[in-house]
Amino acid sequence: MKKEIKENFAFFNAKGLNNENLPKIVLVTGGAGFIGSNFIRYLIRKYPDYKIINFDKLTYAGNLYNLEMIEENPNYAFMRGDVSNQADVKNVFEQFNPDFVVHFAAESHVDRSIINPDLFLQTNILGTQILLNYSREYKVKKFVLISTDEVYGSIPSNSSVAEDAKLAPNNPYAASKAAADMLIRVAHQTYGQKVNIIRSCNNYGSYQFPEKLIPVMINNAFQGKELPIYGDGKNIRDWIHVEDHCKAIDLVLHRGRSGETYNAGAKNEWKNLVLVKHILDLMKCSHDLISFVLDRKGHDFRYSMDSSKIKNELGWKPVINFDEGLEQTILWFKNHQEWVEDIHSGEYMNYYEKYNNKV
Ligand SMILES: NC(=O)c1ccc[n+]([C@@H]2O[C@H](COP(=O)([O-])OP(=O)(O)OC[C@H]3O[C@@H](n4cnc5c(N)ncnc54)[C@H](O)[C@@H]3O)[C@@H](O)[C@H]2O)c1
Repeated sequence: MKKEIKENFAFFNAKGLNNENLPKIVLVTGGAGFIGSNFIRYLIRKYPDYKIINFDKLTYAGNLYNLEMIEENPNYAFMRGDVSNQADVKNVFEQFNPDFVVHFAAESHVDRSIINPDLFLQTNILGTQILLNYSREYKVKKFVLISTDEVYGSIPSNSSVAEDAKLAPNNPYAASKAAADMLIRVAHQTYGQKVNIIRSCNNYGSYQFPEKLIPVMINNAFQGKELPIYGDGKNIRDWIHVEDHCKAIDLVLHRGRSGETYNAGAKNEWKNLVLVKHILDLMKCSHDLISFVLDRKGHDFRYSMDSSKIKNELGWKPVINFDEGLEQTILWFKNHQEWVEDIHSGEYMNYYEKYNNKV
């Protein structure tokens, strides 16, 4: 079943509304993806008077079903467009004259970046610069870039990195995100734009695209399929619930000091194999489903951030208990098998079958 793509912005042409006493207009890029769609629902719940524009190209990872329950909300608008296309970006700024830009849109899958780096540079770097250019022209009050712990590269055991650590990306995705971070810095230093960067660890939760680790494991376990684990499964990731991340973005958007970067890690580090076994235990499934596949090229061993700054300055800390978050995510996927099926019948499956080399 294919969802009809409806651009629904005619009813609120926001031009001229941009004044201190009027509701804020927030341009969210990549709002049809996993974190962006969670953030839009979060904003609508928390700020019922805000006007939110979702600007998304609808790549394989963008799915308007993620926003079905709010698509009739009069404060929500969707416009299809590409952040790396000047005309598309100009159009959305002209139409809506946003107060805030929260920039999620990106090619986000590391494995795909290893196969086709060029698209990652175009979307993640050029797209960020084009958005910054128009944000400057339209005097946007705050631009927040959603970045990642991957920009720091692999972190040795028993240490973690603060925001001023050197950037050492090891794959094309991480390099493109690090470059975008640098462009945000330049926008602030050279042009005086009001900007922030937030770098989070691995997110999990409802609506996550099923090529990422936790959804792959849950969905394969439901279907009795093998659970592919890279290498020996000892790589370590820090996991945060998407709702905790949304709260951090909200704080940075409204209260972050301009020009600053904020780490948002959860101090919830798991070896991949241990995590997958844990998910199988929560689902009461056998560990026999686990299989090992060829390791990712340049696979970072561990990510670990020191998030004292956002805690001390903005009072943020993650609050969702990991087991509760996982149980809720498992239940969400159980209750949304049609959502998963729709994705599995598309382009994603061709990719998955072509590149998931078993050893
Ligand atoms: N998922 C994580 O664990 C994680 C962790 C840290 C940071 N991030 C960052 O958060 C952001 C969102 O990640 P996600 O997991 O929700 O990604 P996602 O792949 O689920 O969604 C990306 C969205 O961006 C859209 N998009 C892609 N190219 C575009 C373009 N050229 N123009 C307009 N829209 C485009 C897609 O259609 C999709 O809706 C990304 O910037 C990512 O780097 C993700």
